[in-house]
Amino acid sequence: GRVLSVASECVPLVKTGGLADVVGALPAALAPFGWEMRVLIPAYRSILPQVAGWPEVMREADLFGGAGIVRAGEVAGIGLLVLEAGHLFDREGGPYSGPGGDWPDNPERFAALSWIAARIARGGLSDGWRPDVLHAHDWQAGFAPVYLAGAGVPSVMTVHNIAFQGWAGAERLAALRLEAADFHPDGLEYYGGLSSLKAGLVWADRITTVSPSYAAELMRPEFGMGLEGVIAARADRLSGILNGVDTALWSPEAAPVPFGPGRMRGKAANRRALCAEFGLEVAGPLAIVVSRLTDQKGIDLLPAVIPAFVAGGGGLAVLGSGDPALEEAMRALAVRFPGRVAVRIGYDEGLSHRMFAGGDAVLVPSRFEPCGLTQMYGLRHGTLPVVAATGGLADTVIDANPAAMAAGVATGITFHPTDALAFGQALRRLLALYARPADWARLQRNAMRQPVGWETSAAAYSALYAGLAGGQEA
Ligand code: ADP
Ligand code: GLC
Repeated sequence: GRVLSVASECVPLVKTGGLADVVGALPAALAPFGWEMRVLIPAYRSILPQVAGWPEVMREADLFGGAGIVRAGEVAGIGLLVLEAGHLFDREGGPYSGPGGDWPDNPERFAALSWIAARIARGGLSDGWRPDVLHAHDWQAGFAPVYLAGAGVPSVMTVHNIAFQGWAGAERLAALRLEAADFHPDGLEYYGGLSSLKAGLVWADRITTVSPSYAAELMRPEFGMGLEGVIAARADRLSGILNGVDTALWSPEAAPVPFGPGRMRGKAANRRALCAEFGLEVAGPLAIVVSRLTDQKGIDLLPAVIPAFVAGGGGLAVLGSGDPALEEAMRALAVRFPGRVAVRIGYDEGLSHRMFAGGDAVLVPSRFEPCGLTQMYGLRHGTLPVVAATGGLADTVIDANPAAMAAGVATGITFHPTDALAFGQALRRLLALYARPADWARLQRNAMRQPVGWETSAAAYSALYAGLAGGQEA
């Protein structure tokens, strides 16, 4: 069968977070199950040079204020469709914001992407390719199932992060090519305005999110962020399918000094190199953080817990960017604990690999986490995850409690709730565990053997698509 995947990011072309990794990984993961997946993304300025020569497969004269052209090509084995629309996407800045903050016409920009997705699904491509299923990711693709209504092509809406809901004022209804008759609480209306994510959740045939625990959490007010009722009403259409990671890319065999279970000397060499690179000298466990610096990720808790961790012999290396106040708080920690805490503000894929290879533990104290990828990178490298027991973190890390230790299955440390008390206690447990080398080594072995690839989840997506494409939805 054929699937059209619609998103705002896709590795290796454009990435601000895990969404891009997942969208970029799905085509190869689904191929062995007989699915040909093409990915539709906007042609942002940064990728225009790469796609300029690609053949045109569709043209739309009036796409929200200008012309739109779809070009087809391939990057890193991914069959891509890029939407070129200069008036919407040829701009200085990131996918969602420029120098002055979020683009005010984001609703139109991504409605355009969704509009084109629906046209493709209705058979609009000149190369004859037509999907059996449309798979929409996050708010940027949320209107696609609405525009597709009545076409007989089933759709899946995946929630990667419910915090971003694609809000727009109700006065934009007509401009966004939506029907006034659909503007009611069981349809498009959301607190008096519009939310493209809600639209997708209501119109899609199936809803998925990126872990089973987050699927359950989404129905609760603490996590649903206003959409809990919409999700709970469609609970029978909802499933949680855990993300995988690219196990070839995120492999201890691919570390600067390769290592593996039972061959951990290489890890020690990576640790020495990492300490040298960061100017650190740490006797106890070396913790790392690789993260967007935002409220979601619980980064603000670090200043409260790191002093005691450092006093206990631990050290910390941070790589991230985001909220200026959190960037400043990280810099201040490094100034306060020279040689023990070091910080790189920025985005650096290569450095992140060296950190997972050389770190002893990766800290992920998220307030909510739909899935999370870095704890899985940690597992792969025997860099033990210390995580808040929420969402996908709870689904991927087995806490080193007495029962799990006795059963020999523990892979890290989990804590709850996400506050400085619980996080601090988790770090004390980490220090104690590090002081017991046999237990530590056992956890590393368990962690490195845990399957975190795409196999199981790809099978789940495949079954979902097959159920829909088989017409069981009609
Ligand atoms: P989210 O999508 O919420 O940011 P995930 O854990 O799903 O969280 O994905 C984050 C992805 O971005 C991971 O691949 C992680 O390694 C990467 N990442 C985050 N910050 C940085 C950074 N500063 N440098 C390099 N990679 C980063
Ligand atoms: C979102 C979530 C993250 C998840 C990623 C990919 O960015 O914050 O938890 O791993 O999407 O699904």
